[in-house]
Amino acid sequence: MVASTVNGPVLANGNVSNGDVNNIKDGLHQNGNGVMPNGSLSRKSFPRNIRARELMKRNGTLWRDMTFKQLLLSILVLNVAIFYYLPLTPYLFPVFYMLLAIPMLSGFLGFRNFLYVFWKHSGRKSKIDEYIEFVDDETKTRFSGQFIPIRDLYELYADGKLDFKRDVLECMEHRDEFVSYKLQWWHLKFFFQKFVPEMFIHDQKQDREQVCDHYNRGNDFYRSFLGPMMVYTSGLQYTDGDSLEDMQLNKLREVCNKIALQENEKHLDIGCGWGTLVNYAAEKVGSKSTGVTIAQEQIDWASEVTAEKGVKDKAKFLCMDYRDIPDEKYDKITCLEMSEHVGIKLYANFLDQVYDMLEDDGIFFLQIAGLRRAWQWEDYMWAFFMDTYIFPGADASLPLTFPVAMLENAGFEVQAVETIGCHYSETILRWYQNWQKPEHKEEMISKYGKRLYRIWDIFLSWSTIIARQGNSTCYQIVAHKNMDAYPRKNFFKMRAKYNN
Ligand SMILES: C[S@@+](CC[C@H](N)C(=O)[O-])C[C@H]1O[C@@H](n2cnc3c(N)ncnc32)[C@H](O)[C@@H]1O
Repeated sequence: MVASTVNGPVLANGNVSNGDVNNIKDGLHQNGNGVMPNGSLSRKSFPRNIRARELMKRNGTLWRDMTFKQLLLSILVLNVAIFYYLPLTPYLFPVFYMLLAIPMLSGFLGFRNFLYVFWKHSGRKSKIDEYIEFVDDETKTRFSGQFIPIRDLYELYADGKLDFKRDVLECMEHRDEFVSYKLQWWHLKFFFQKFVPEMFIHDQKQDREQVCDHYNRGNDFYRSFLGPMMVYTSGLQYTDGDSLEDMQLNKLREVCNKIALQENEKHLDIGCGWGTLVNYAAEKVGSKSTGVTIAQEQIDWASEVTAEKGVKDKAKFLCMDYRDIPDEKYDKITCLEMSEHVGIKLYANFLDQVYDMLEDDGIFFLQIAGLRRAWQWEDYMWAFFMDTYIFPGADASLPLTFPVAMLENAGFEVQAVETIGCHYSETILRWYQNWQKPEHKEEMISKYGKRLYRIWDIFLSWSTIIARQGNSTCYQIVAHKNMDAYPRKNFFKMRAKYNN
């Protein structure tokens, strides 16, 4: 099933070194999805059109056709059937359901995961000792020669109890040879004790704590991997040789084109980060752009750039929660990878707010990171990692149907959707390469500690792969109010203008 693997180095830039391509025989290579380590599909490595569901079957997943909705429905039916035979008053059903549904759901997933891990690893030998150096004896005794659960791998690495023998990304490319996606008690505890309650709370206090803790860490921390442009979202790659800065410039230009931003138009960027889009639009287009972010350190950075560019009359920034944005009308509204932080619970309210602030003939641009619907266990393991360390509370990162349905329910018409996951992979790869530069490594470790440095090693390397192989992706959505009188023909003209 697994090809003889890419024996030689998968380079830090994501390419396979010469000659190794020939080692990838057929069907699936070690990434498990038939995609070359550099993201391309070669006939040799990808002879059939392997659908995501087919992959799940290959990975040994039982009841692969059961969706979460069907699962929850089955649990409900089972609960009703059991309750019917119990001498209990019907008012007790909700309590009964909660008490039984959680263990049933956990049991089902646990059993399913057990079978998956069992089938995947039975008869295979772990190559952990090829990639991992054990620093302490206890860890060595536990994991040498074994498939290590991915959470143990990153926690022990962060704690300095093990090291990667080669470049972290290079070893992570081979992770299926020594890692298992085994569910652990920790996952269950995290899910019910942290993820679910936070998802239901999502009040301003919680969001402020989670978001500010992350973004007010220090601008030098972000500068060391985002580079001088300080854009913390996917760029767009046009050519293989595009640098991170080229990719981000491509993206800024395309966003302005997609919303047909004009001079002196009122533009609002919600979750503006370090203000790069706002300053770019003010300088290059001459729009009156306002950026909103909850993190003061980002505003400090953004305002300095505004002064340097001499666009103080065009660009301004507000440090506040999105819920407190003054109720004004804007011609164009953008929101790049901030709405994940809004959360599922408040997503409809957020879109109502955007709808109210947008002029009737305006355009809304939404860039949002998402997950695929036909999931695999690695998707969840990665999502757990991200929610723990990188973007706590960003629970509105979901399959495409979620933002599209929410937009439609809020009264928008979706004009265009573009999936930019592979651009995201290339963006994160460049962040990873910046992060690995010896001068950054030394400075970051001395200022922020080895543990945080190593967590970012995992985040950037693993996410490069995850975005490349489609576990997670990113969408650019252009929407407008779904009104009879909306000047839809403008989109023809825009296309003609920007395609020429
Ligand atoms: C992933 S960053 C994206 C930044 C920027 N759009 C870019 O392209 O670089 C998410 C941004 O959303 C902001 N944000 C998150 N929650 C927010 C909230 N409740 N109110 C306002 N801004 C928020 C963060 O401060 C951060 O600037």
